[in-house]
Amino acid sequence: MTERPHLVVLRHVPDAVVARLREHARVTDVSDLPRTAWGAALGDAIGVLGSSSTSIDAELVAQVPGLRIVAFQSVGYDNVDLEALRARGIVLTNARGSLVDAVADVTFWLVVAARRRFRLAVAWARDGRWMRGDAPFSNDVADATLGIVGFGEIGPAVARRAQAAGMRVIYSNRTPRADDAQTGAAYRSFDALLAESDCVVALVPLTPQTRRMFDDDAFAKMKRTATFVNAARGAICDTDALLRALEQKTIAGAALDVTDPEPLPPDHPLYAREDVVILPHVGSATVETRTRMSMLAAENLVAFVEGKPLLTPVALG
Ligand code: DGY
Repeated sequence: MTERPHLVVLRHVPDAVVARLREHARVTDVSDLPRTAWGAALGDAIGVLGSSSTSIDAELVAQVPGLRIVAFQSVGYDNVDLEALRARGIVLTNARGSLVDAVADVTFWLVVAARRRFRLAVAWARDGRWMRGDAPFSNDVADATLGIVGFGEIGPAVARRAQAAGMRVIYSNRTPRADDAQTGAAYRSFDALLAESDCVVALVPLTPQTRRMFDDDAFAKMKRTATFVNAARGAICDTDALLRALEQKTIAGAALDVTDPEPLPPDHPLYAREDVVILPHVGSATVETRTRMSMLAAENLVAFVEGKPLLTPVALG
């Protein structure tokens, strides 16, 4: 009898996902162990199931001589050493398509939270300032212009929510899309988008080109009344530049589901600001969506083991 392939689960997944893998493979779940204790379990693995919080670096790849597939239960894979995978012909899959609505919901909530100054209003009620008078007015969402930077699969879902609330939507992308008539969003260059938007939403993946693309220069091009929302990756924004832009009132506020560093330490000055809303990277963190994401990673592993086409392969070039 031939030995069953060995798969290692690096991040916590629902039991049903592990059970699905066990139908086709020997499975070791190391998600409760510190990374330093993974060594022995990884030895003869042909595949690993990881996520955006598992760094797949050259050291880990070297630890697993038989590794042939990395299946990610995240869409972003900026923490994967793509060169190390390429050099060994290891394939990568991600979870695209499985989290669009959950992330779009949170992103649009951040748009509203920043524009309507929720952080200030919550503090106003909680701290007793309400007893002395009403909270300062905020600004309408309807009729404001939303600028989405990175218009892939989540951008149009955010646009639909924003348009339903009466916003105008523009976007910037590496190239203009062919479906502007369907999405109702108009293409702009990055600089034109910064100048025209009342709220700028970042949804670009983290790459060497997008790292710190929101810097002093970018914030200086935004309206002083505009807000900034980051629902992509913390490192596409220079955190110090964002803090400066808020302190100097170059922009009016920010709402973040991702930060750099992540987690953002509790004594970070951004938390103290009443013009900033911070969530702990929960865009896709619902039971239903996370289950779908990890099941998609499992189905990619099953397809690989069975020699079938992968569902969501990442082109490594
Ligand atoms: C993703 O899938 O990339 C989300 O940010 C969750 O990690």
